[in-house]
Amino acid sequence: MNGKIYLVGFGPGSEEHMSFKAKAAIAESDVVIGYTTYIKLVKDLLDGKEVVKKGMTEEIDRCIEAYEQAKLGKTVALISSGDIGVYGMAGPTYEVLLQAGWTPRDDIQVEIVPGSTALSACASLVGAPLTHDFCSISLSDLLTPWPVIARRIEAAGNADFVVALYNPKSGRRTQQIVEAQEILLRYRSPDTPVAIVKSAYRRRQSIQLVRLDEMAECDIGMLTTVLIGNSSTFIKQGLMITPRGYANKYDRLTGAAKEGEQAGISLSMGLEGWYACLRQYVQDNPGLTLEKIADYFGVVVGEVLSAIAAGESAGEHKAARVQTEKLHEVVQSCEQWGRLRGILRAEAGAVSELFLQAQDFQRRGDWLNIETEAFHCHVNWSKVDAAYFACRGGKSYGVNFIDNKGQLVFRLLLTKEDGEFSAAKLAAYRQTWQAFAEEVCND
Ligand SMILES: C[S@@+](CC[C@H](N)C(=O)[O-])C[C@H]1O[C@@H](n2cnc3c(N)ncnc32)[C@H](O)[C@@H]1O
Repeated sequence: MNGKIYLVGFGPGSEEHMSFKAKAAIAESDVVIGYTTYIKLVKDLLDGKEVVKKGMTEEIDRCIEAYEQAKLGKTVALISSGDIGVYGMAGPTYEVLLQAGWTPRDDIQVEIVPGSTALSACASLVGAPLTHDFCSISLSDLLTPWPVIARRIEAAGNADFVVALYNPKSGRRTQQIVEAQEILLRYRSPDTPVAIVKSAYRRRQSIQLVRLDEMAECDIGMLTTVLIGNSSTFIKQGLMITPRGYANKYDRLTGAAKEGEQAGISLSMGLEGWYACLRQYVQDNPGLTLEKIADYFGVVVGEVLSAIAAGESAGEHKAARVQTEKLHEVVQSCEQWGRLRGILRAEAGAVSELFLQAQDFQRRGDWLNIETEAFHCHVNWSKVDAAYFACRGGKSYGVNFIDNKGQLVFRLLLTKEDGEFSAAKLAAYRQTWQAFAEEVCND
């Protein structure tokens, strides 16, 4: 007889939240293998079964045991709380099996039985905190380096995700939650709602609804999941709610679509419409720099230039993308534009403005350098992926060099002579634009 391994997620802990399939898989199994606490949680389903309890650190032993038992022709249920594929035993089991030469065509079948993971179980107890984009991050640094975890928290904070923290704290790991709070407070308001749910659907269940700046002080343990709201999450009548976004589109009282929006169609600020919205905003708000516009929309300067270049009417701003294969020629053409203002922005906030002549640029390997007595300017040319001509209502004329993430690498601007742009230099600039710009694509 061929053996079989069921990888069973039995949900948060109570039998009523276990799926029919999970119960059926356990019922069908000869052997049930699990962490001691999990075995206790399903004890009423274990009559007549061979039960193998293992400690928390013996995860790989559980996988090996399951494989050994299945090789003897037995049906084995390897059980885990929540969903066995979420920070659970499904991954390690497949790794052990594949390393042992098992394949999905082998006589031993493997079937995963999904369960309700802690984040949905915990969310159900506090309201509807996950009804918009969310991510989960485990704060356990037992197997994951802290810089990786910190980078993920940072990214989630920056992108305004609702965040579910698994493994937030243990007897030994007490500072990770403090660090997580500190990182998120760089992006979120201190009063951002946080739900701290301990032992959901188990005997010692407890719930705390607090603010982000109170989170690290709260009672948090090994069996806690922490749900941190995004910038729209609110608490009302003791319920933590993250709006789906209906208020962006529909009138709250009448339910009718707001002006410019249509039911069943992407928002006017959706993928197809947002470039036009940006241009309209630029038209309605003269005097804004590219950086100010980028900040307003929460995007990089490259996106702003791309949006302006894609239509005819962006108020005082005009832009056109340089044909990709003409980037070098554009730098050479800058030599005809006279004295230039070079702008270099460091991500941390410093902005350098240098007066230079493009003919002083020297290519050295990947670098475009200008070295004078007054300054050394080194531009990493290998980072430059695209360029846009851009001008603003007679006030500035230049070219922006952009990296592959849309960040500005450097910008060259024409300078005035005696308070005026020289007609000859402007003509040279316009000629370069005509020669090397991509055709304008109007939407
Ligand atoms: C190793 S992970 C296992 C996750 C599990 N596979 C799941 O899908 O829920 C353990 C973490 O899950 C969370 N967790 C599991 N069960 C929970 C429960 N009943 N209530 C709150 N959090 C729980 C806690 O964050 C705990 O530290």
